[in-house]
Amino acid sequence: MANNKRIGLLTSGGDCAGLNAVIRAVVNRADELGWTVIGIKEGTAGLLTRPLRYEVLKPEMFSGHMMRQGGTVLGTTNKGNPFAYPMADGSVKDRADEIIGGIRELGIDSVIGIGGDGSFAILRKLFGRGNINFVGIPKTIDNDVGLTEYSVGFDTAVMVATEALDRLQPTAASHARVMVLEVMGRDAGHIALNAGIAGGADVILIPEIDYSVEGVAAKIEKVRSQGRNFALVVVSEAVKTLDGGVRQKEYHGGEKRFGGIGDYLSEKIATATGAETRVTVLGHVQRGSSPTWNDRMIASAFGVHAVDLVAEGKFDRMVAWTNRQVVDVSIEEAIANYQAVSSDSALVRTARGLGIYIGD
Ligand code: F6P
Repeated sequence: MANNKRIGLLTSGGDCAGLNAVIRAVVNRADELGWTVIGIKEGTAGLLTRPLRYEVLKPEMFSGHMMRQGGTVLGTTNKGNPFAYPMADGSVKDRADEIIGGIRELGIDSVIGIGGDGSFAILRKLFGRGNINFVGIPKTIDNDVGLTEYSVGFDTAVMVATEALDRLQPTAASHARVMVLEVMGRDAGHIALNAGIAGGADVILIPEIDYSVEGVAAKIEKVRSQGRNFALVVVSEAVKTLDGGVRQKEYHGGEKRFGGIGDYLSEKIATATGAETRVTVLGHVQRGSSPTWNDRMIASAFGVHAVDLVAEGKFDRMVAWTNRQVVDVSIEEAIANYQAVSSDSALVRTARGLGIYIGD
């Protein structure tokens, strides 16, 4: 086995807890093999500037707290598709060759990219153009990457959302309120579904299953008839309004993100039930904490396996978690099998079995 490999490592797309644990695992495993890891800054953005922005990563640089920290020491970005890069004058430019040139300049043999399906689609096209060896490690709080049961960051996000429900329950009971918790997840309702079950929600609304305000109100009435004075509602950010619209927030510069469905529903619930309602929008809090043991464990297993794939010369693969073990799958197939919540999944049946209203 060649003893002089140089692996490029980057984090791409939205951050989440557990990324630093992946970076540590890749660096430690590569070090075991005597290889060099070049950490590229801010996704592919570090390869667009000259001088290039990177750092040679060594195990001794990471003191014991590395795997316990949220975020990514490499930085990341979910903007700037290199094939249609937004330029200062408002035009877009194909800058893929500049990135490929940067990889060649650094003498990198293979790139390990930590990303979600959107990042993988771009990175695969990019490295395909440059004939650069690529291995993917799935991360996203949304847990929507196909062919893997878990992506790094999901478990922590669910833990944070569950803890939010734990904190909302006593204040809800004290004030006899209906508490609406809006969680992230984009078009996939995994965070809402998992946290809703774990946190004792009465209503869980996810983008994959249609709902009615009458259904939500009937559940709240039932809870009241059983002598309980409060209710917990979890809603996923991409749940639609009754007329099929999407609630979004526009940020400075015109960028839009999901946001506002909690407020919308709170008003509808108050009108339909007469209950006093309050809304909590959890937002980026779900991405930012110290990773759970499960995210650290998966991150470590993924990082080691990704380096081992490079050692075996297996490329265009994504590491994945399935049936209690780490495997690898085709990145192309993983991207093609977007993982939303299936309406007949075990957890949806569990929610219904618990009497949770999850739609019609
Ligand atoms: O994909 C991860 C995610 O956190 C989504 O759940 C959320 O909709 C989005 O990213 C938020 O993006 P940003 O960090 O750009 O606000």
